[in-house]
Amino acid sequence: MSRSVGCIDDVRAFFDEVAEDYRDAHGCSERSLSYRLGILQRLLPERRSGSIVEIGCGTAMHLSSLAEGYDQAIGLDLSPAMIARCEAERLRHPLRERLRFAVDRAEELATQRDGTVDALICVGTFEHILDRPRAAAQIHRVLKPGGTFVCLTPNGAYLWYTHLAPALRLETKHLSTDRFLTSREWIGLLTTAGFDTPAVRSWTFIPRGDMPVLAARLLQILDGLGRRLRIDALRGGLALRAVKPPH
Ligand SMILES: C[S@@+](CC[C@H](N)C(=O)[O-])C[C@H]1O[C@@H](n2cnc3c(N)ncnc32)[C@H](O)[C@@H]1O
Repeated sequence: MSRSVGCIDDVRAFFDEVAEDYRDAHGCSERSLSYRLGILQRLLPERRSGSIVEIGCGTAMHLSSLAEGYDQAIGLDLSPAMIARCEAERLRHPLRERLRFAVDRAEELATQRDGTVDALICVGTFEHILDRPRAAAQIHRVLKPGGTFVCLTPNGAYLWYTHLAPALRLETKHLSTDRFLTSREWIGLLTTAGFDTPAVRSWTFIPRGDMPVLAARLLQILDGLGRRLRIDALRGGLALRAVKPPH
């Protein structure tokens, strides 16, 4: 059963509780992390410098690896317990001087000034954000003109979410307020916030932690088919790249 959530304090309490043991719940951590980092590297602008911000950074497993290309890498999260873990890890990081962490909600980004961020990433977090239009507007606000937003998130049109899990009566949400957007919904959200039309593509995401082993095997086969035949409903992840217009 998903955790019933009524307000932002409930979301914060949930992530504070899981922070100590938080890890990738859907597969071989090392391999999936390097797969996701590869996607992020390809979607971020080739010429890197300035600042990169991650919203909902969790333990900063992605940001810590991407920090090398930037002068400053800033991880933001609504959970003080997650940020405390990031701070502890930061002290052991070879680029610790470039890394900075703060408690901050995606809907506010109160720690970031207008038009100051070169690149902003969000991985496995947007689906948990309560006020998505407000978060999209804040992302647009803090990016520099020409700055890039890259997001990895579950695909709301994935066959697992739309048909298979409901037929098997299996829960797909961790929080009752979780919401997986379709590519069409993403395009609407981001263009309304002021971004150029985003590029949306699929990636292999199978929420193995939430399903029986047999279902995961079936979805792995369907994912391969979806990749070859370009059927997005068979692919569990969406990867988005949106640019704030330069003027
Ligand atoms: C599933 S974890 C993903 C963490 C990390 N990005 C990763 O891939 O490992 C989701 C994170 O989003 C954070 N979060 C949820 N809602 C948020 C919000 N409105 N603003 C900022 N962070 C939020 C949670 O505290 C949690 O650390």
